[in-house]
Amino acid sequence: MQYFGRAEFESAANFVRQRTQHTPRIGLVLGSGLGGLADAVEQPSIIPYADIPYWPQSTVPGHSGKLYLGRFENQDVLMMRGRAHYYEGYALTQVTLPIRVMQFLGVEILILTNAAGGINPTYRPGDLMLISDHINLVGMAGENPLKGPNDDSLGPRFPGMNGVYDLGLRITARKVAKDEDVPLHEGVYVGLSGPSFETPAEIRLLRAVGADAVGMSTVHESIVARHANNQDGQNKRLRVLGISGITNATIDDSESLEEATHEEVLEAGKVLVPRLEAVVRGVLRALSDPA
Ligand code: HPA
Repeated sequence: MQYFGRAEFESAANFVRQRTQHTPRIGLVLGSGLGGLADAVEQPSIIPYADIPYWPQSTVPGHSGKLYLGRFENQDVLMMRGRAHYYEGYALTQVTLPIRVMQFLGVEILILTNAAGGINPTYRPGDLMLISDHINLVGMAGENPLKGPNDDSLGPRFPGMNGVYDLGLRITARKVAKDEDVPLHEGVYVGLSGPSFETPAEIRLLRAVGADAVGMSTVHESIVARHANNQDGQNKRLRVLGISGITNATIDDSESLEEATHEEVLEAGKVLVPRLEAVVRGVLRALSDPA
């Protein structure tokens, strides 16, 4: 597998540009069971992932595989209804190509959502968690989406990884959740490769190292977003807001007979979508009217 570079990103971004009048500054990735939010996009240009050059296909139920560009809270937005994952067999350069396309399209704010298992014992299925920080266990084991040649025109070789989840956006999201009466935790997301869920011993380990929720996405996208200089050359990075929908409690007892399933992940999405929608709408309103 060759690493993607400017040529592939340009080609995919040009394809998208030619199929819409919208020029989004805000991009959203909708995780497992959360794709329903895309139905709220007005005047949508809908582009199947399968049509876009180099764009990775999602093979997982609950990820429909379409790009929506349109109006949402009076702003141009881009929403990804479903994403591809590392465990589907994609290289991380493929998994994160959509983030590069957003960089090339001029997206400045990236809202990443996902379904996650709750590790923090106070979290319940149906709760939202604002991501304050992440632990990239896949990256610690050597699989980083920035591995390979670095194109300095896209971003620096060694990007810092503090402040990945923009504090200003988090403060806005906290305020919105409070105003809208949506319960919102804030914690650390740990990214694993999947597709197997965690053993109880692994859950206990992850809890001990400070993880509050666990999932199989997001961290790669956040890293590429953090790397991504914006295209006007000001060295400004994409600002990321990360929100996990807690779909299940993880099992930390090695004698438990319970099992985590993808079905419960999708079921919890039904409760999560309206809550997520309230928070995302509020954040977008605050962005368009910062006063
Ligand atoms: N573990 C890992 N990924 C997940 C989980 C989980 O329990 N739930 C949703 N995504």
